[in-house]
Amino acid sequence: MRLSFLESAVDIAKEAGSLLLHYLERKVGFELKGDYDLVTEADRASEQLIVNRLRSLFPTHSIVAEEGSGEEGTSEYCWYVDPLDGTTNFAHGFPMFNVTLALERAGELIAGVVYDPLRQEVFCAERGGGAYLNHHRIQVSKSRQLSESLIATGFPSRRRHLNINVHFYHQLAMATHGVRRGGSAALDLAYVACGRLDGFWEFGLNPWDMAAGVLLVEEAGGKVSDMKGGNLQLRGPHLLADNGHIHSEILTLFSEIFRGEYRFPLPVL
Ligand code: IPD
Ligand code: CA
Ligand code: CA
Repeated sequence: MRLSFLESAVDIAKEAGSLLLHYLERKVGFELKGDYDLVTEADRASEQLIVNRLRSLFPTHSIVAEEGSGEEGTSEYCWYVDPLDGTTNFAHGFPMFNVTLALERAGELIAGVVYDPLRQEVFCAERGGGAYLNHHRIQVSKSRQLSESLIATGFPSRRRHLNINVHFYHQLAMATHGVRRGGSAALDLAYVACGRLDGFWEFGLNPWDMAAGVLLVEEAGGKVSDMKGGNLQLRGPHLLADNGHIHSEILTLFSEIFRGEYRFPLPVL
């Protein structure tokens, strides 16, 4: 029996997740990729497994994978692969990381999975088919006001000295119940999809960090755009994803911050 794209992606993500747990037990060391970005043996082994499986199942499909072992071809199908999202957490034994894969057809995301092997949670979605957590349909939260929301953000390691997100972090922390920084963008998005978070934003993500999570949020009834309210570009500079109800309130606050206007002044030292 031939499995659907999504079923195949889920099987592969689970297999890669089990592999990550073996590496976690062995406490693998890390190397630096650039100035501050960590990479481990586990990232590479997981990517190898995923890319091998995808190549044997879908030999004509393009693969864009974080550690560089994919191949972009001419197929209308393209897989985005993050073999270990949350590498810094993983390298320190902080229990928040995942494997994530998504499939795009002719520029549209059609299937995605985020697998958390520690909690054995499979978040998955197909375009038009809803979003699921371990076979149960999920929906975004119902929070209607930013002041009652729990949101999350992230700070990429690459070029971190240029990241302006700290300005946004302060304003949003003051305007909400709190801002979490879990260190695993795909799980942040999956948590928006299932209502554990009301929203998430980040600058400088890559397509493999967000592709599956974006589809999850959309299929769970949420809203995704860039941080200025434009259509999200997977290769664009920033992302905002939330339950839809608080989207315009967040965009208003973001537009003030982009203009350098602070509703909440920084505390004096
Ligand atoms: C990182 C994580 C982190 C986010 C970074 C990503 P990686 O992915 O998702 O939460 O803040 O922007 O690069 O490098 O661990 O796969
Ligand atoms: Ca990532
Ligand atoms: Ca990664």
